[in-house]
Amino acid sequence: MNRFILFSLAVAVVGISALPDQSLSRARNGGKKMVCYIGTWARYRPGDGKFLPEQADPNLCTHMMYGFAILKDNVISVHDPWGDLKDEWGGGHDGYKRFTSLKKQNPELKTLIAIGGWNEGSKKYSEMVADSSSRKTFVDSIIPFLEKYGFDGLDLDWEYPTQRDSENLEDRENFSALVRELREAFNRAGKGYLLTAAVTPNTKTVDIAYEVPEISRDLDFINVMCYDYHGFWDGHEFTGHNTPLYRHPLDEKYEPFFNANDTVTYWLQAGLPKEKLIMGMALYGRGFTLAREEDHGLYAPTTGGIPQGPYTRQAGIWGYNEICEKFQAEEGQWKISFNEHLKAPYAFNGRHWIGYEDVESIYYKAEYARNMDLGGAMVWSLETDDFRGKCHDEPWILLKTIVNTMNGDDKPTIPERPEVVPEEDNEIEPVTEGDVPPSSTRRPRPIRPSRATTTRAPSADVPPTSAASSDGECKEEGIFASGNCSKFYQCVRTDKGFQKHEQSCPPGTAFNPEIKNCDHPSSVSGCSNVVRTSDNYRRTGQGLTTIA
Ligand SMILES: *[C@@H]1O[C@H](CO)[C@@H](O)[C@H](O)[C@H]1NC(C)=O
Ligand SMILES: *[C@@H]1O[C@H](CO)[C@@H](O)[C@H](O)[C@H]1NC(C)=O
Ligand SMILES: *[C@@H]1O[C@H](CO)[C@@H](O)[C@H](O)[C@H]1NC(C)=O
Repeated sequence: MNRFILFSLAVAVVGISALPDQSLSRARNGGKKMVCYIGTWARYRPGDGKFLPEQADPNLCTHMMYGFAILKDNVISVHDPWGDLKDEWGGGHDGYKRFTSLKKQNPELKTLIAIGGWNEGSKKYSEMVADSSSRKTFVDSIIPFLEKYGFDGLDLDWEYPTQRDSENLEDRENFSALVRELREAFNRAGKGYLLTAAVTPNTKTVDIAYEVPEISRDLDFINVMCYDYHGFWDGHEFTGHNTPLYRHPLDEKYEPFFNANDTVTYWLQAGLPKEKLIMGMALYGRGFTLAREEDHGLYAPTTGGIPQGPYTRQAGIWGYNEICEKFQAEEGQWKISFNEHLKAPYAFNGRHWIGYEDVESIYYKAEYARNMDLGGAMVWSLETDDFRGKCHDEPWILLKTIVNTMNGDDKPTIPERPEVVPEEDNEIEPVTEGDVPPSSTRRPRPIRPSRATTTRAPSADVPPTSAASSDGECKEEGIFASGNCSKFYQCVRTDKGFQKHEQSCPPGTAFNPEIKNCDHPSSVSGCSNVVRTSDNYRRTGQGLTTIA
């Protein structure tokens, strides 16, 4: 199926000069992990946005994660049979095979299947872990699945225990039980299968959702998703960066812990050993439409997400490939500000604003992971790097910067950027303690659950819609609304015309044709009666996470 994610300076470029095979041997020798997710629904993207597993460079990653398999009747299940497998008539994309075949080029590469993601919701997982017999059903389904399709391990992307549409605080202990039982089963199998998980960056929910010492003991490593800190979703009325490395002074009033440093520090203090902590990084940006063109700093008022990009086709989020190609195509129109607090850039052009990663900011993140002596780095996700090398002299500029930096390289030469604007020219004036910001421009962000659907790593999303249609007939590829608020369908081209796949939104959400994604029902006209089954953030007074 599909969900996808999203996600792109013109310019000449001086890049990083290590050859791929040097990166490889150095990655091995350095002992640090480079964990690379693929949002495999990128197979359905148009033009140069289309990405197939064999386009990945098996020598840049130590571990690759196939996003996603799903949970069905308590067993691990193929999500998109047409995309993931070959059918009996020889059709199908054969995604699993293309993915695991990368090992032929690098026998040391580990290829894992990730189960879950944002669109799966939380409830099914909560129910499965709450009963020892359904847990056993799940555990028993895993090794046969890994053997059948040739995966090296399982990555658990339950987003998240005790959160979203699960209200069950027992998820915390029951998740530990599941992880322990999987570990025991893997040990009994004796085949060296890997067991990992992707977890929340939100420091307010870490202790509610996880028994950190227990899961840290039983998992081989843990991917901490240090992204989606800010973005356009329900009620978010201000610009903010997807991936701040450090706190901005203005954050103190809003969400002071929404940055990678606070997340990583928190997980370490909670009991995750540093060698098992894999720091997640984003190969995409999140953007807004500004309320006023001249107000383009951080915490500037917004009216919505940045319009969709050509490949990921979802408002509010652009891949690095879409960002850098846009800068090229609209040379001279984009201005960039590199924020020294966040250690990350944002760019704006008219009323369009995007916070993203470039070579310099991703270098600082990898340098951070290296200096903290973490177990490695993770990216969500490969298919939105400049994987074709259209913007830079060589492909994979962001991924290579991470690998080289983790391996000890100095700061690389930073590719030339479009016009750089001095920070003080576009930053709003600092709000001093006790100030009441003018209403409607500087209120704290409303406390509402995020929809952050997409991208998040293992997050995920809904595939792009190419047109709205609700008559149920597939006439072109894409995703379409259905007559039912909680469902949408995906049309895939086959030899014999089109095949229709019905998909459901996570409980309590509704398909929004405008953003082509599952959304809060209140944002979808005619669907406000879809019931939210829970709102754990409000219930527990945890405030809102914008994190997936
Ligand atoms: C789930 O967690 C609760 C609280 O610890 C526990 O009472 C219950 O037995 C657990 N369920 C299973 C199936 O282990
Ligand atoms: C990183 O986070 C820690 C813990 O919150 C904090 O003490 C430290 O000052 C932060 N570092 C920077 C450069 O902000
Ligand atoms: C929409 O689909 C859900 C899930 O199958 C179902 O429970 C619900 O009754 C449907 N709603 C309508 C209006 O058909």
